[in-house]
Amino acid sequence: MANKKLSEAKNAKNDEFYTQYEDIQREVNAYLEYNPDVFRGKTILLPCDDPEWSNFTRFFAQNFENFGLKKIISTSYAIESRNIKEGYQLSIFEMESPQFDEDKTKTHGKIFTLTRDSNKSGVIDIDDLEWHYLEGDGDFRSDEVKALRDEADIIITNPPFSLFKEFLAWIVEADKQFLVIGNQNAITYKEVFPLIMQNKMWLGRGFKGGAAHFINKYYTDYATASDHREGMIRVSGVVWFTNIEHGRRHQPMSLMTMEDNIKFSKHKEVNGNPYAKYITFDALDVPYSDAIPKDYKGIMGVPKSFMGTYCCEQFELLGYEREDENIVVGIKNMPEEFLEVYRQQGGKGHYTKGMKMLCYYDNEGNAKIPFSRILIRYTDEWIKSHPEDFKA
Ligand SMILES: C[S@@+](CC[C@H](N)C(=O)[O-])C[C@H]1O[C@@H](n2cnc3c(N)ncnc32)[C@H](O)[C@@H]1O
Repeated sequence: MANKKLSEAKNAKNDEFYTQYEDIQREVNAYLEYNPDVFRGKTILLPCDDPEWSNFTRFFAQNFENFGLKKIISTSYAIESRNIKEGYQLSIFEMESPQFDEDKTKTHGKIFTLTRDSNKSGVIDIDDLEWHYLEGDGDFRSDEVKALRDEADIIITNPPFSLFKEFLAWIVEADKQFLVIGNQNAITYKEVFPLIMQNKMWLGRGFKGGAAHFINKYYTDYATASDHREGMIRVSGVVWFTNIEHGRRHQPMSLMTMEDNIKFSKHKEVNGNPYAKYITFDALDVPYSDAIPKDYKGIMGVPKSFMGTYCCEQFELLGYEREDENIVVGIKNMPEEFLEVYRQQGGKGHYTKGMKMLCYYDNEGNAKIPFSRILIRYTDEWIKSHPEDFKA
């Protein structure tokens, strides 16, 4: 249900939910554990933010000295330009500032910067933020914010969901380090997967349990009672995308042999069932990432959630397959007779015989078309260094 809410958010272009402090801290810690100096001497830009309310600004400002930062720049988007305008509260901080302007506050974005101990308290922290109105509304696509992007070393934010592709292209064009929140579905966007394949981008440590709670004033939360948190919306399938090194992506997955998976897997589709081979491509279908056999040398199709555990020394990415843009070499057309069986068995997907899709018959003869697989195989280096696993 939460996913439905997110797609409604996408359609309505409503992008107003905010990230929790503890989620930012947990993620940033992954980069610090890998390299304690990752932020030293760096200028961080936090765009698409709302600095007075934002936990991104608060988190980095409070850790300014600790991380050895050079500068924080945080920008907000004018309330009049947002898709949801109601419910916005002016902060006391802004209203009491000498530069407060009743008109500009609605139509102009704001910029907050932190570089020095401006209040002479002896420490550089959130109370030293200095601000003014931007010339424009703070749109990340404006020349004004682009110039800030070009000045920064690292760009960090939870961007508007409805503009994710555009936002990512905006970062990539500038060739900066980044850490941004997005939906797991973005992994197989044609604008995204090639970057992941070329090792120019990967997933971060991730939210606890694969779902995130965002601070929410506008949406109804449909999370079950045990998952519901007051004032929050629970969204599943949310991930961090980054090009900053962290340890998890170098940690190999610990896996069982094919035989042991079939004997012991906790997944009923795997337990007791030989793995299926696609009929349109020479590869094995692996319905769960933790069921990847540790002794299979060939190509395997795995779900997108695999990217959250992907270790680049262990596996190589070969491509992906999607109903609408199957971007992989050599997947053949689905045979007509397969589609006939699929329809006879009540399959309702919008598939036609010309489509190049991964598909297979399961052990009971059911025609299956898995949802959006990523194609992987063990790297040659991995196979060479694990001869005991790849005897055959
Ligand atoms: C998902 S919210 C996240 C806010 C904040 N970064 C956080 O995580 O707490 C995205 C924010 O981007 C703003 N936004 C929407 N379109 C924008 C645009 N074109 N340029 C800059 N900001 C935009 C929205 O108003 C919203 O405040």
